[in-house]
Formats: sequence, C-alpha cells, structure tokens
Amino acid sequence: MDEIINPNESELDLDEYKLRPQYLREYIGQDDVKGNLDVFIKAAKLRNESLDHVLLYGPPGLGKTTLAYIIANELGVNVKTASGPAIEKTGDLAAILTSLSEGDVLFIDEIHRLPRYIEEVLYSAMEDFTLDIIINGDSSSRSIKIDLPPFTLVGATTRIGDLSSPLRDRFGIISHLDYYSTDDLIKIVKRTAKVFDISIDDNAALELAKRSRGTPRIANRLLKRVRDFTLVNELDSITEEITKSSLDKLKVDGEGLDELDHKLLNTIITKFNGGPVGIDALASSIGEEKATIEDVYEPYLLQNGYLKRTNRGRMVTEKAYEHLKISKIDSLF
Ligand SMILES: Nc1ncnc2c1ncn2[C@@H]1O[C@H](COP(=O)(O)OP(=O)(O)OP(=O)(O)O)[C@@H](O)[C@H]1O
Ligand SMILES: [Mg+2]
Repeated sequence: MDEIINPNESELDLDEYKLRPQYLREYIGQDDVKGNLDVFIKAAKLRNESLDHVLLYGPPGLGKTTLAYIIANELGVNVKTASGPAIEKTGDLAAILTSLSEGDVLFIDEIHRLPRYIEEVLYSAMEDFTLDIIINGDSSSRSIKIDLPPFTLVGATTRIGDLSSPLRDRFGIISHLDYYSTDDLIKIVKRTAKVFDISIDDNAALELAKRSRGTPRIANRLLKRVRDFTLVNELDSITEEITKSSLDKLKVDGEGLDELDHKLLNTIITKFNGGPVGIDALASSIGEEKATIEDVYEPYLLQNGYLKRTNRGRMVTEKAYEHLKISKIDSLF
C-alpha cells in the first residue's frame, strides 16, 4: 500500500523514465517557473554562457528531477547526477566536477543533505569555477587550485529551510514548485494514458486528478493501478466507475487522503483532543518517521486546510472534523 500512495521515487522504474517529459513545452503546469526558466535558458544561450545555478524546491513527486533533465536538454548539454548524502568525500565531489564539460549540468538531488565540508568546496566551484582542495602529504599538506569549465549546478530539495544560507545565496535562480491544479493533473493523467496507449474517459481523468494530492507522481501511480483493475475487469477504457471503485479499494478517499492521512488526523482528534500536539509525540503515536510526516504528509494537509501549525504544535481544523465526519463535541468525551 505504501508504494501506491507514497510520492517518493522508487528505483528502477522504467515507466517513470518513459513518462518523463523531455522539454519545457511537454512539461505541464508550473507556468511561472517554466516561463522564467525559458527566458533564462534562452538568454544564456544567446550570450553563449553557462546558465546560472538553479535551485528547485518543493514537496516530493512534483517534477524537480524531471525539470533538471529538461534544463539540460533545453541547453543542449550533458547532465551528471549526484545525490547529497552520497557525496561523502571531497574527492567524490572533485571527481564529479572535473568530469564536467563546458556548460554541462550537474544535478545534485537532496542537496540539503550534503555534508557541510563538501558544501564548502562547492562554494568556490559555483562562484569562480575553481576547485580548492587540500592534499594531505606525509609531512605537510598543501592546497591546490584546479580550474573547472563553467557549468550549471541544479540543486533539488524538499527542504529549503535545511539549506545553509551561504549555499542558498549562490544560486542565481531559485524556483519553488507547488502542488498542481486539478486541471493540470487532468492533462498529466491524459498524457500518461496516451503513453500507455489506453483510453480514459474525461470523468475518470477528473476523478484521478482530484485524488492525486496535487502530485504528478501519485497521479501516474494511481493511473497504473486503475489500469490494472480496468484490464482485469475486461473493460476497453478507463471509466469513472472503475476509477472510483479501484481508488476506494486502494483506500484513497475522494479528496486524495489515504490511510495514513486518516490515521494522522484521527490520532490528533482522539488522542490529543484535536491538538496542539508536537511532531515527536505525533510521530511516535502513529508509528511513523518524523521526516515522513513533515516532508510527505503534512505539507498537503496544511496547504489544504486540514491541519494548522501553531507555535504549540499541530492542530486539526474544522475541515478535518467535517471530512472525517467526526463531531467535535462527541470527540471530547
Ligand atoms: N509537469 C509535469 N508534467 C508531466 N509529468 C510530470 C510533471 N512533473 C512530474 N511529472 C511526472 O511525475 C513523476 C515524478 O516527477 P519527478 O521525479 O521529477 O519528481 P521530483 O520532484 O524529483 O520528486 P522527488 O522529490 O521525490 O525527487 C515523473 O515520472 C514525471 O513523469
Ligand atoms: Mg527527484
């Protein structure tokens, strides 16, 4: 079940690869981000310079990795990828940086998880395209400077607040990806259905869009499961009816909230009288990782008004009581 609703990327997903838009014009929604990037990319190309460094941030599954690859495609350069926690030694970073060609994109995912000493090496690389490293010899250590070709660092993070300010300040372009509108998700669902060569009714696409938590990765994943139900039920096309019944079976409700969302809201109501409750108490109470709640579940519940944050902790809202059909008075006794 986790697989289906968790917007985190699963490895080795061939479909994911097929579904990734390659160019800005195929990338649905996020119009402001797309429009600005289009201008900056064109300007960099006209000036024959590398694009300024780009930081992409926003909740999981909204298309940060996709956008990083698109930037490289639009620039007509190669992309090298790395992940923050995987770069452990300065030598690892040096190896990646020295392998870049002029204008290339270096994509660092989860950039907020780079160790601080690696970050410090990155500063001069980003600013002056030089690599300052210290070589430890037998009797002495010396510092050497290596010139790097101009390159574009594209960093992605779900937690901009965890990024140190010196690192953040070195990005010339900072773009925030937000949850997608239902209309955009309908387009994404239809595009995916086309890639899978399966027909889908308009109302079915709408239903999927509404239940996808504003997240393309979830929309695609739910569509795949509904496709399975459609096939096994020997239907020619994905109908509204099969969509609704499949999503109900997957325990994704009409607003896209899943079992864990329900558990989280229910726990605050029944165990903590609706809140406020601190994140640690909440996490241990529902048996989930704090980070999963903070990065994956909470942002959507906050944005959509089921939950609010106060300085004393999280509280559920009227909307949550209504959605769960729990009477506020009854819940107190
Ligand atoms: N704007 C879009 N148009 C069409 N499909 C999209 C769009 N954004 C994302 N997708 C699809 O959603 C999936 C998830 O996108 P992606 O992997 O880029 O998200 P992410 O933000 O990098 O997530 P994470 O934070 O987990 O790394 C991809 O398979 C991609 O095909
Ligand atoms: Mg990603």
